[in-house]
Amino acid sequence: MMTPMRYVVLVLFVVLGLHFILTLSHPAYGNATSLSRITQGWQSSSSLFDDSRQVPDSYRSPAPKPDISRKANATIVMLARNSDLKGIRKSMKQMEDRFNKRFQYPYTFLNEEPFSDVFKESVTALTDAPVEFGLIPHDHWYQPAWIDETRASAARKAMEENKVIYGGTSPRYRNMCRFNSGFFYRHPLVEKYRYYWRVEPDVTFFCDLDYDPFLYMQDHGKVYGFTIALPEYAETIPTLWDTVKEFIKENPELVPKDNAMPFLSDDNGETYNRCHFWSNFEIADADFWRSEAYSKFFDKLDSAGGFYYERWGDAPVHSIGAALLAPRDKLHFFHDIGYRHEPFERCPLSDEYKQGKCWCGHEENFDYHWYSCLPKYDQMFG
Ligand SMILES: *[C@@H]1O[C@H](CO)[C@@H](O)[C@H](O)[C@H]1NC(C)=O
Ligand SMILES: *[C@@H]1O[C@H](CO)[C@@H](O)[C@H](O)[C@H]1NC(C)=O
Repeated sequence: MMTPMRYVVLVLFVVLGLHFILTLSHPAYGNATSLSRITQGWQSSSSLFDDSRQVPDSYRSPAPKPDISRKANATIVMLARNSDLKGIRKSMKQMEDRFNKRFQYPYTFLNEEPFSDVFKESVTALTDAPVEFGLIPHDHWYQPAWIDETRASAARKAMEENKVIYGGTSPRYRNMCRFNSGFFYRHPLVEKYRYYWRVEPDVTFFCDLDYDPFLYMQDHGKVYGFTIALPEYAETIPTLWDTVKEFIKENPELVPKDNAMPFLSDDNGETYNRCHFWSNFEIADADFWRSEAYSKFFDKLDSAGGFYYERWGDAPVHSIGAALLAPRDKLHFFHDIGYRHEPFERCPLSDEYKQGKCWCGHEENFDYHWYSCLPKYDQMFG
């Protein structure tokens, strides 16, 4: 008796045998079925690239030469890991299409590890503008030796147990917050620029930008531009405001009278209302971070250890720095930029919506969401 398995094996033998005999006796059959022939079949798709099949150049219309008669001293900065490539492509393609195809600002990529060749080739292929890749110096990134690691890891553990967002996990998030707060603008590749636009992986830009925001910042003496403002999680910054108050007491001469304190505090500086600009989007003057005032401010916060003993983010640190140390009219809300970083987005209104040919909807506009701090910003100018 034959089992079904034996039938299968028998049929297979017969088919293979027949194939073998046909190959030997009928060369044309062998030609048609040989492996090399089959792979040739694949390759023949490359004949699409033969001259005869290509769309002739006469049909192509090169993009108009970008208008770069006047440019700011500026770069687009992206902090990324090799594993962020997919999200970086998405962000960068949009930067190019919505803005930079026209304005041709250079890109500066920073990473605490060397960028891979695949990463470099992929992002360079997306733009005609110069692209530079930098390695972050060890001391600008890693936890300083004077941080008490026992205390820091205990803090991480406690936050993890309390489910604080980005509270637990590795120290990497904390290194990143400290780097973004006080070091990225000192990197040799960034140091040579005054203005920067910070772009993160996986963001969305909804509108065309038909002017140069760097020149706008420069011509109007702005130091910090944002799109979304919201409160920080209290659990991540228990002692931040006390440290800020100490700084104010020690350096009253660095705090201008017409600053944006009403954005930060509802009781004239006594307590922090936790409002901050969402720093995953920033168009800013790096010389402001390099100034004596912000440098002293950053050093004060850094020496308090809160980047590691708590989870101070670069968003509240930059925001408090800018709102405290600059006159309020040097801050700028980019109301014509439609932007999304998970989980929030904002969308320009009426005229600007049409002007930018925006594709965001207004249902999700964060500007006047109950959680938005934009009204506090507006009130300062009301
Ligand atoms: C088999 O293919 C080769 C080239 O691919 C060709 O020169 C030859 O004439 C073919 N033989 C037959 C019998 O079709
Ligand atoms: C650009 O700005 C940086 C920082 O202010 C400065 O060091 C550099 O000299 C400037 N470059 C030019 C070409 O003005």
